[in-house]
Amino acid sequence: MPKSTQYQSRESDKNGLIAWSEEENQIWSELYARQISLVEERACQEYLDGLSLLKLSEDRIPQLPDINRVLIDKTGWQTAEVPALINFGEFFRLLANKQFPVATFIRTREEFDYLQEPDIFHEVFGHCPLLTNPAFAHFTHTYGKLGLAASKEDRVYLARLYWFTVEFGLVRAKGGDGDLKIYGGGILSSPGETLYALDSDIPVRKPLTAIDALRTPYRIDIMQPLYYILPEFDHLFELAETDIMALVQKAKKLGLFSPLFPPKEKKAS
Ligand SMILES: [Fe+2]
Repeated sequence: MPKSTQYQSRESDKNGLIAWSEEENQIWSELYARQISLVEERACQEYLDGLSLLKLSEDRIPQLPDINRVLIDKTGWQTAEVPALINFGEFFRLLANKQFPVATFIRTREEFDYLQEPDIFHEVFGHCPLLTNPAFAHFTHTYGKLGLAASKEDRVYLARLYWFTVEFGLVRAKGGDGDLKIYGGGILSSPGETLYALDSDIPVRKPLTAIDALRTPYRIDIMQPLYYILPEFDHLFELAETDIMALVQKAKKLGLFSPLFPPKEKKAS
């Protein structure tokens, strides 16, 4: 999670609606148009099913109450309108209550291709479709409850598991062809990484094990050097039923893997 931001969330009216400006809606429609054609071939079926259930608007920023109606019906989840930055405690508390935090701002044109803060395009386009899916919803809920009860130190380990699943996970498609597909919202809301994650021969791609993900360092400001692959989407159910906190303790004993990325450059002072 970034520590500072130039963005400020918009506030909704008493009906939960936000009066987005024409420019903000225009940015959404350009982001949507660019991304939709990429994900149709590359996202997992469970994501695409969720996308058709949500019927997101192409030309204006969706209103959260419209998304909530679908999510509540399918999995009992809903979105929660939050400021541009929230702390880990609040993040876990919301997930533990089946509320997915959505910061209600959209990126500026200067950051059209890349931004570190999760904006409403990332949250709604990247994550909300899969919140209609029972396996994903159950895993995310379990993760929230574990995180809420965890120590500060253990939360850092949990964050790695989230990163390599919910944010940057790949999955083997059902049906025998074994094609790699994307389910991580960090990838699905980024055109560059949607292509890179599946097509580039630069990143390492390995089968997911929870213990490995817990031990793998990551950086939020680069294309990922490593992706973990779920054997099938419903494996998220099994993952949620694993004793994840026991694995966190094991990961702490074993220590982190060496990073596959260079250290972050220090800004000249
Ligand atoms: Fe995210």
